[in-house]
Amino acid sequence: MTLSAPPGIPKERGRVLIVDDNAELASALEAVLLTAPRGLTVRTASRGAEALEVAKDAGFDVAIVDVKLPDASGVDLIEPLRAASPFGEVVLITGFASVDAAIGALRSGAFAFVLKSFRPEELISTVEQALSKVRLQRERRVLEKRAADAEALSAMGKLALNLAHEIRNPLNAAVLQLHLLARDIDRLEANPETRAALKRRGTIVGDEIGRLSRLLTEFLELARPRGLAREPVHLGRLVEDVIELEQDAATSRGVTVKKEIAPDGCVALGDAAKLKQVVLNLVVNALEAMKAGGELTARVAPVDEQVVLVVEDTGPGIAPEVLESVFDPFFTTKEAGTGLGLSIVRNIVDQHMGDVRIESVAGRGTRVIVRVPIGR
Ligand SMILES: Nc1ncnc2c1ncn2[C@@H]1O[C@H](COP(=O)(O)OP(=O)(O)OP(=O)(O)O)[C@@H](O)[C@H]1O
Ligand SMILES: [Mg+2]
Repeated sequence: MTLSAPPGIPKERGRVLIVDDNAELASALEAVLLTAPRGLTVRTASRGAEALEVAKDAGFDVAIVDVKLPDASGVDLIEPLRAASPFGEVVLITGFASVDAAIGALRSGAFAFVLKSFRPEELISTVEQALSKVRLQRERRVLEKRAADAEALSAMGKLALNLAHEIRNPLNAAVLQLHLLARDIDRLEANPETRAALKRRGTIVGDEIGRLSRLLTEFLELARPRGLAREPVHLGRLVEDVIELEQDAATSRGVTVKKEIAPDGCVALGDAAKLKQVVLNLVVNALEAMKAGGELTARVAPVDEQVVLVVEDTGPGIAPEVLESVFDPFFTTKEAGTGLGLSIVRNIVDQHMGDVRIESVAGRGTRVIVRVPIGR
């Protein structure tokens, strides 16, 4: 079995934007870049205004910009281009060599300065270097955001611990009173319909209290992680358990469930109950995403020193601007969602020293990839 990308969800490629009014040169550049080992997607623009439009619509990682464009100077384009696509880097290209021009370009924020008489491998190497810088910066931003999230959660956690006690007690009292009320209603001298109607209201209140209490438990779990067991856990078996649990929900939505579990190496080191929660949250999200049926695939296989769990659906996918927020506590796009599912997943995976990421293509589907250390 493989964990490679199925058709429809491409691996992330570097996006290059070529801005040059000389069509011949632009297509020569494009041809060179398409031979790059890492795999690039290339777009071209012949004027500054057009380049800015592409940058705003599709974004870019590296823009290769001619210094002399019909409607602008490449140097003046650096700033607006970088504003349109954060973290993008600009490589200037020019027909004439002048040390002053090169220094000026670098001062104005260009990543590099390349002559039109470039050798192909030189250009590819410059673009690769720029891409590495872009990737590093993105990763840094992700890490900074996660540190900030963790900080916020732990501050919330202290507050929540105190609050939880205060909320739990009246909730328990309310549940008790509801039971007594139900008994009193049975004893009422009233006609059966009146009694049934009264009891229905009681049940609704009881259900709502149950929801509050579940929310409280989930939030506490997130804010105050309890100790983590470290035992061998067969992830494949967890997947089977969860799928069995959710099979009816899947069938009623017209979702086919597939599982691919490697015969060996699916034993992770960690906390069975918590890892089961991870699988459950991901499977529930996948099912909830496929309102009009589809296919859910769960895979487990060892890769190097880790066990990899993949949960994949053929739902509507997640728009890039939404994808940035899905791990945020309380972020939800669902009417009845609490938005804690994925924050709990990330929390648990972090506690296991693992990692979780999401790949999604709008209209095609979503794939969540979790890696945790392998057990021996
Ligand atoms: N498989 C998926 N397909 C499409 N969107 C998804 C998928 N998984 C998560 N999302 C998006 O991420 C958001 C956050 O997910 P998360 O599990 O954290 O919360 P929730 O499902 O909305 O609520 P809860 O899990 O607390 O009931 C969802 O509201 C949804 O917009
Ligand atoms: Mg969820």
